[in-house]
Amino acid sequence: MRRHFGAPDAALPIRMFPHAKRSETRPLCSGACRCVASRIMSKNTLLTEWHPASWQSRPAAQQPKYANAAALERTIGALGRLPPLVVSWEVEALRAKLAQAERGEQFLLQGGDCSESFEDCESDNIARRLKILLQMSLVLLQGLKKPVIRVGRFAGQYAKPRSADTETRDGLTLPCYRGDNVNRPGFTAAEREPDPELLLRGYERASLTLNFVRALIDGGFADLHHPEYWDLGFMRHSPLRDAYQGIVDSIAGSLEFFESVSGQRVHAATRCDFYTSHEGLHLLSEQAQTRYIERQKRWYNLSTHMPWVGMRTAAIDGAHVEYFRGIANPIGVKVGSAMSAEWLQELVQVLNPQAQPGRLTLIHRFGIKDIEQRLPEMIRAVRAVGARVLWVCDPMHGNTETTSGGVKTRRFENILGEVEAAFRIHEECGSMLGGVHIELTGEDVTECIGGARGLAEADLARAYKSAVDPRLNGEQSLELAMRIAQRVGANRRTARVGNRLSR
Ligand code: PEP
Ligand code: CO
Repeated sequence: MRRHFGAPDAALPIRMFPHAKRSETRPLCSGACRCVASRIMSKNTLLTEWHPASWQSRPAAQQPKYANAAALERTIGALGRLPPLVVSWEVEALRAKLAQAERGEQFLLQGGDCSESFEDCESDNIARRLKILLQMSLVLLQGLKKPVIRVGRFAGQYAKPRSADTETRDGLTLPCYRGDNVNRPGFTAAEREPDPELLLRGYERASLTLNFVRALIDGGFADLHHPEYWDLGFMRHSPLRDAYQGIVDSIAGSLEFFESVSGQRVHAATRCDFYTSHEGLHLLSEQAQTRYIERQKRWYNLSTHMPWVGMRTAAIDGAHVEYFRGIANPIGVKVGSAMSAEWLQELVQVLNPQAQPGRLTLIHRFGIKDIEQRLPEMIRAVRAVGARVLWVCDPMHGNTETTSGGVKTRRFENILGEVEAAFRIHEECGSMLGGVHIELTGEDVTECIGGARGLAEADLARAYKSAVDPRLNGEQSLELAMRIAQRVGANRRTARVGNRLSR
């Protein structure tokens, strides 16, 4: 059988999942009916039985080419024996919350680095990321008046899709950097050589990160009664300081009021108040961390709560879609300008044939230039196949540009503009925006232009740290959350006045 992973002619080292059990996945329907699912399946032969390695018979985009097949096999075997990072009941709890978000009862805040780096796996850095996500969620909670589901792009976001396989500098061509799970960003042949051992280092760092996050949350770090725990350095001199303090005070006042009226304390810190997500890109490592849960009678990817399919690997007959259709986790799918409405319909049918609530989050990332034109047709397309999804806006990946000096950046005004357009377009189409997906860091970096402090192109060189995409810094992230909250709050007030007048 033609294999699509590893060196072109090498036999794939991982023939079968080590403790494979046949999946309980059933055909979506008998095929005798004329539903969309049966048409799609007959076209793409998706009726074949799923198992964690079934993706290996499909073309797998964006996979590294390892020179040492035996070393790769050893590593994947080791990864398959290590304990899972998350457990199925947490995954199911997240799915239930996402189902509520689909109904407009919660809002998803998903954010973190474009690509985590092994070096940044240290306490301050992890705490800062948590703090900015907590601050943003507090602001969104107050403005949107609904609970916020916090999902980090962390504890495993170590593999990146790239637009080219190689990079050339001064006449030297080397493999591109594909994330710390695969190789290193430095431009030498040794650093760019894909090294399977890095998958184990990535597993360890994901587990260290998650352990620290869980300990902080369990220790009361996420408790709404103590937002002062989340203060970040930039706040002391920030133009946003007073507005943020106003929000904190208003929440403290509401908590106090509720607790005195009800005589009960609001418990904000729950066991897994933070969930993790990463792009499910490196399929051998995702496969190795896929486990059959007897009690649930289903397969779960237990390396993360919510993996997503990237735009570059969403081909309907590709290996990634084949892998994702069989796991029980809630999953995200990036939806970009290159995707047609029919393609999206097929994805929705293949990935959520039973229309299970909370299963599928569509993360659109059209950019400010395309959203007006593309989003309405996508909303109509999904509605036409009767699918239930959670719509989320990623205002980062469609708004990347390169300055005249060759620096990759994004403009705050375009990021905010796309989120605002997304809220409006969903509403106009009788749909609902249920979340945002942001590349951010709690650090004081200068990677995106604009925001309250008016970062300019000339400032980018000062603290540009990302090895891949530019992130909002802490202050820009908080400002984005505030502007979203203001906009939604203003719309709600207008609607309330409208309702009163029409009564
Ligand atoms: C990403 O989220 O970092 C990414 C590569 O996104 P997309 O697949 O939407 O391009
Ligand atoms: Co990115």
